[in-house]
Amino acid sequence: MVVTKELPGDRWLEILKQADCMVEVCVSTDVLRVSEIKDAIGERCDGAIGQLTEDWGEELFAALKAAGGKAYSNYAVGYNNVDVGAATKHGIPVGNTPGVLTETTAEMAVALSFAAARRVVEADRFMRGGHYKGWLPTLFLGELLHQKTVGVIGAGRIGSAYARMMVEGCRMDLIYCDHHQRKDLEDYIAFYAEFLKSQGQKPVYCKRAASVEEVLQEADLVSLHLPLDNTTHHLINRERLGLMKENAILINTSRGPVIDESTLVAHCQEHPNFRAGLDVYEDEPDMKPGLSELDNVVIMPHTGSATGWTRQGMAVLAAGNVAAILMGYPAWQDPDISPFLSDDLPKAAPSIVNADEVGVRPFMV
Ligand code: GLV
Repeated sequence: MVVTKELPGDRWLEILKQADCMVEVCVSTDVLRVSEIKDAIGERCDGAIGQLTEDWGEELFAALKAAGGKAYSNYAVGYNNVDVGAATKHGIPVGNTPGVLTETTAEMAVALSFAAARRVVEADRFMRGGHYKGWLPTLFLGELLHQKTVGVIGAGRIGSAYARMMVEGCRMDLIYCDHHQRKDLEDYIAFYAEFLKSQGQKPVYCKRAASVEEVLQEADLVSLHLPLDNTTHHLINRERLGLMKENAILINTSRGPVIDESTLVAHCQEHPNFRAGLDVYEDEPDMKPGLSELDNVVIMPHTGSATGWTRQGMAVLAAGNVAAILMGYPAWQDPDISPFLSDDLPKAAPSIVNADEVGVRPFMV
């Protein structure tokens, strides 16, 4: 069993050991190349846990299959780095780690929203630089979020959690865009609006937009929560940025290539009152030229899910995916994965994205 990076906690290791796995962990903190992972897989390998920075395509799945591999799990909820079609072709189930990073990543999007709106990083740098000479009525004026409009593009688990935090926390109105109507989210906001009304306060509202353009035009703050695929690559381009308010804020904690980053750099250079908060980049770990020089952009090193609890939970889910397949267990069906965080692990793989295609049977209660 190959694990391409050291993972936090030790429960994940116990889970793999209970499945009789000998575990080889790659200790390098560098992003591993395909050839290096192939070497780690070697001639005998029952399964692997890989990272979002690695290219899990035909070459690696062929190597894993040839080594007797039966399961792979990404240590992430997003799996745009995995060619699921290639894994399926080799009959290899692919796992991911949903649920444990929902609130954590949403909190990072909130942190970036406030940091961008109130110029937190710029002002911190100013203090450390010894430039503060006393309180001024015009020092670091930012944007008030209270009762403005938040736009969410992609209102799945993380997008909905972020929307709830901003709507409740700042009483913002919500405009969202998603392939599906998010009834739970809409109901939640409707109840909150009723509560505000009952207190004699201005209610919030929630609107499902017909297009990405509508969200960009109407919202004061826009957060992206989409998976990366052919349909979302460079979704935010020059034209769409041009639709946003001149002092809008754009947050991205999803995947870098959802934004045409060079275009964003140009937009931020031309519009000093526009702000962005980014956790992800088009060519990670690199940034497009000019991005790091911009005062109106807050940048984080893809740490959206980086809390101890979440990263340990992700390790448990990834190990649970691989161990369960090796033990011949079925695939869990419920989006609620919390039973896997208890002491009494269900006899199932928490999340297999190609379960139907590779014939992993569904878990029945
Ligand atoms: C992190 O970016 C993830 O997809 O889990």
